Amino acid sequence: MDPVKNPYAPGAGSPPPELAGRDELRETIRIALERVKAGRPTKSVLMVGLRGVGKTVLLDRMRDDAERSGIHTLRIEAPEGRSLPAILAPQLRQALLRLSRIEAAKVFAQRALRGLTGFAKALKVKYQDIEVGFDLDAEPGLADNGDLEHDLQALMEVTGIAAKEAGTALAIFVDELQYVDEEELAALITALHRTSQRNLPVVLVGAGLPQLPGRMGRAKSYAERLFDFPNVGPLTSDAARIAISKPAIDQGVEITGEALDRIVQETHGYPYFLQEWGKHAWDSADASPIELIDVDQGSQAAVAALDDSFFRVRFDRLTPLEKRYLRAMAELGPGPHRSGDIADQLDREVTSLGPTRSQLISKGMIWSPSHGDTAFTVPLFDQFMRRIMPGEDWKH
Ligand SMILES: Nc1ncnc2c1ncn2[C@@H]1O[C@H](COP(=O)(O)OP(=O)(O)OP(=O)(O)O)[C@@H](O)[C@H]1O
Ligand SMILES: [Mg+2]
Repeated sequence: MDPVKNPYAPGAGSPPPELAGRDELRETIRIALERVKAGRPTKSVLMVGLRGVGKTVLLDRMRDDAERSGIHTLRIEAPEGRSLPAILAPQLRQALLRLSRIEAAKVFAQRALRGLTGFAKALKVKYQDIEVGFDLDAEPGLADNGDLEHDLQALMEVTGIAAKEAGTALAIFVDELQYVDEEELAALITALHRTSQRNLPVVLVGAGLPQLPGRMGRAKSYAERLFDFPNVGPLTSDAARIAISKPAIDQGVEITGEALDRIVQETHGYPYFLQEWGKHAWDSADASPIELIDVDQGSQAAVAALDDSFFRVRFDRLTPLEKRYLRAMAELGPGPHRSGDIADQLDREVTSLGPTRSQLISKGMIWSPSHGDTAFTVPLFDQFMRRIMPGEDWKH
């Protein structure tokens, strides 16, 4: 069928033609944000889920929802290797400049901008990657101690006051939160604790891999009380069917029940895989309806496309030993697996593999569902590892 009209959108952060199965979560966030705006006690929300389940597109959609209802937002992504203050400062500046255009909030937003100047200048020594424009001179003593935990608290507080005076709330959307360094996470948690104690309208909506709640708890033991951690999982079979059929129907194309069942079965309802299978089934079909045979014909191309992008980008960042570690896990199946069993596969001692395992956790490839257990963060990664490293050579 006409590839120009192909509606499916596989790709990191690519908005899907139909955001299926996430209405409940969106509603949870909508309520949280409205509560914050109304000055009611509310927990921040951190969504956790595996790679490719749709965390990024969900954050983006929630941000649009929030903006439409008059909430001020800022959106950042925590890349590996950059400091939180560096990525936060420029976006916070934008948000404060917008708030400063609201007459009732003007003086308060300006004070927060002064705080931001002091904050950035004082922390520049430690976090050299901070680059932010200065709009107003610093106010001596405001967020300028050079200590992140203290200064971020002060900065968030003046920011919260500005948002309150403007009659709005500030929602901070942060993606890939698991990459934030523990000390910086601790500062962020403390700052949110302060704004919530003072009933200021600031809330965090974050997303990250499943190791995130554990990291937050280690950073500050009271984090659990401040945050909800809803799980973002694969779609239910009904939602997965809608994710595929609705975009087709919108283009006047039908898809048979059998074909849908096969797609759900092959993808296990994982959103990234659904988009990839939808795309290739569409391309394989000559005319409506899309049938089982089109899905089966497209499957090979879908797997190849995933191997070349979704899986590949992750694989290419690994050292040879890290690859062997993951290959050993794959040998044992989808997981989770005991560290001892993985080590046995490689004829190594568990302790000698400790650094490799830690490295894989910080790269976001694996996580530990419970003590001594290891699981992939990328769905179906075990199958990919067996495809890309076939045979027995990896054992030696
Ligand atoms: N609810 C949904 N329904 C249908 N497709 C979806 C849904 N959510 C996400 N997708 C699709 O899944 C793919 C992955 O989405 P996204 O990049 O948001 O995942 P992610 O969880 O952020 O992944 P990563 O952990 O790798 O960053 C995209 O192609 C997107 O269009
Ligand atoms: Mg993402």
